[in-house]
Amino acid sequence: MEKKVVEIFDISYEGAGVGKSDGQIVFVPKTLPSEKVEISVVKKNSNFLVGRLERILQESDKRTKPFCSYFQLCGGCDLQHCAYEEEIKLKKQILKKELEKSGYNGEIKTVLSDRRAGYRNKIKLEIKDEKIGYFRQKSHDFFEIKSCPIASEEINKILPDIKQFLVSNNFKFLRNVYIKQVGERLGICFLFDKNCKLDTKNVKKLDLFGDNSVYFAFGEVLESDRTKVFCVRGQPKLIKGLKGLKLEIDVSSFNQINDEIAEKLYDFIIQKTENKRVVNAYSGQGLLTFLISQKAKFVYGIEFQKSAHESAEKLKNLSEEFKFENICGKVEECLDVVLLRDVIDIIVLDPAREGCQKSVLNSILTSKIKQVIYVSCNFSTLVRDLKILQASYEIESVTMFDMFPCTANMETVVLMTRK
Ligand SMILES: C[S@@+](CC[C@H](N)C(=O)[O-])C[C@H]1O[C@@H](n2cnc3c(N)ncnc32)[C@H](O)[C@@H]1O
Repeated sequence: MEKKVVEIFDISYEGAGVGKSDGQIVFVPKTLPSEKVEISVVKKNSNFLVGRLERILQESDKRTKPFCSYFQLCGGCDLQHCAYEEEIKLKKQILKKELEKSGYNGEIKTVLSDRRAGYRNKIKLEIKDEKIGYFRQKSHDFFEIKSCPIASEEINKILPDIKQFLVSNNFKFLRNVYIKQVGERLGICFLFDKNCKLDTKNVKKLDLFGDNSVYFAFGEVLESDRTKVFCVRGQPKLIKGLKGLKLEIDVSSFNQINDEIAEKLYDFIIQKTENKRVVNAYSGQGLLTFLISQKAKFVYGIEFQKSAHESAEKLKNLSEEFKFENICGKVEECLDVVLLRDVIDIIVLDPAREGCQKSVLNSILTSKIKQVIYVSCNFSTLVRDLKILQASYEIESVTMFDMFPCTANMETVVLMTRK
């Protein structure tokens, strides 16, 4: 493999160091600006090279020892090799560069995570020959893990039992195992190929999982209406405590993966929507809709996943005054109906990585909605959608919530006000 010496001077939006060699751009994951490194070229493209770090010749004074022994090979974490302060500085730099594409070069506020390790309440593991693991960076090359230090302690404790369970059963057509921690309990979900026929009566060693809930799902990804999920041990619903409330959580619906930051994000939105008439679009299991409703005048939650909508409907039992309505359907189909019925002051958009549908943005532009809060974990769709919304709205503030410490990912919240 070809070797090169590269001086790193920048960081890519994926968290890789960016350097130059013989005039060509080189991306080197797990390096930092100001470092001089020796690399092996692993990919050649007409515009750039990708290198694997072989040796650090000149080390950044911001470099620290990663706390995970798999860091060098794993595709999960990008920025565990620097101090937290530096990680945040680099993330802000990445976000600033992305937002400049929309013309924004104002302040970026930050909300930091108290923990860099143990913060994830959900992981998705790959399975190979009864072993559990992850893929190496940008590949489908499996490696086995015994722990994942960014996942919660409870999740890590169950990993040996999962391995034993897999060895005892030797399942065919098993794709992944998802582990979600909700409160004290875990939801452990084995995802099989959708065509797999499995007689659950023959499954061995389910008792390994004690009081936790175990599910078998059949489909391509867990969080989809097309996937069929069966609870095979424990309580079908998991109970989450939040702000003094006890909420029923569906294992197959979306949940924010960092409880501490999710709560701070919700607080931010609750404060901005106080005394207003609100649409909470892409509302998931309705938790945020319910919390907004406690201080707002009225909230409409719109979510298309049936199981998530059903969880949201259960929240009605917690409230005597109905200041919210959960609508089950696509935002692109339901938003216009709400806008015909009511005068909305502010809309919260928290779409999946694909961002908002063009028709949703057009409906907002032609409405009288005064403010938009856009929550995004994907810069490219965020910037694409901001550019459209800027026809009628201007960016009032940008806040980076550090939902995913040690990775280059972040939750960006943009508050926009009608011009
Ligand atoms: C990033 S999650 C946000 C969930 C919620 N805001 C929360 O904090 O839990 C996006 C949600 O949008 C839903 N979704 C995706 N596309 C949708 C669409 N076109 N219409 C309605 N809901 C959609 C997904 O099922 C998912 O629950």
